[in-house]
Amino acid sequence: MKIRVLGSAAGGGFPQWNCNCRNCDALRRGTSRAEARTQSSLAVSMDGENWLLVNASPDARAQILANPELQPARAVRDTGIAAVILMDSQIDHVTGLLTLRESPLPLKIYCTDRVREDLETGFPILTILKHYCGTEVRRVEPGGAPFEPEEIPGLRIHPVPLTSKAPPYSPHREAPAPGDNMGVLFEDAASGRSVFYAPGLGEMEEHLVPFMKRADVLLVDGTCWRNDEMAQAVGGSKTAAEMGHQAQDGSGGMIEVLSGYTHARRILIHINNTNPILDPDSEERRVLDRVGVEVAYDGMDIDL
Ligand code: MLT
Ligand code: MN
Ligand code: ZN
Repeated sequence: MKIRVLGSAAGGGFPQWNCNCRNCDALRRGTSRAEARTQSSLAVSMDGENWLLVNASPDARAQILANPELQPARAVRDTGIAAVILMDSQIDHVTGLLTLRESPLPLKIYCTDRVREDLETGFPILTILKHYCGTEVRRVEPGGAPFEPEEIPGLRIHPVPLTSKAPPYSPHREAPAPGDNMGVLFEDAASGRSVFYAPGLGEMEEHLVPFMKRADVLLVDGTCWRNDEMAQAVGGSKTAAEMGHQAQDGSGGMIEVLSGYTHARRILIHINNTNPILDPDSEERRVLDRVGVEVAYDGMDIDL
């Protein structure tokens, strides 16, 4: 199984278009060693030719250009993207579906009923796509049995429901339920080796433990170092927790959680542009180095 990190940043990317926080400003000025990052997406393949796009980011076009494996050019119109799976219906995870509208075949999209509903109502991308390539939605049952997408033989996907919030435009924003947000265990059906992926991890729920114990690699929510980080960096009052993201620092934080899983490679992903871990020379990055936790970057490969 091959996993390519297409985009390692949270919504907004790094630097964010209108942001002059310490990180974004230093990157533009060239005064930090941090690297730019596009918005949250992965590609997973078993044969290096057919890929499952995991979230379709607003940066999908740039990500496909940066990763020629996704464009094998076997015909006059071609793509290596055989199907898409969505973790939620957030802007940073679904807007790229519009970029894929020139597909000659309907897009094969794996998502929960809740996500599908959002994408047919509050943010009706699936409805819009009816006028272009169309879509074939394959239902994912949150917490349901593992399944093997026919487009990617040999890949087994275990859907794991996560308690988090649906986006602001969702009809069920104020009534969270399983299926608004999920993580997945991607398993190589032949070898049993696996990666647990959860870019939006609001809280460490008990049912996640068996998946995290079993995984060879943990690729989890690295949005914010501190819960009040965005307010501190750019003002406002939005906390990481309110956005459905468990901060890294402090008691019960992601670093403490990950310290209990030393059997696995542990990688933070979906990193907000305000997060000090983006700067390789930050004190926070040294904390990660000490506990052996990695920071995802665009183009990172995970081979199992
Ligand atoms: C989130 O994960 O909370 C989203 O990235 C926020 C956004 O894109 O606006
Ligand atoms: Mn996001
Ligand atoms: Zn910023």
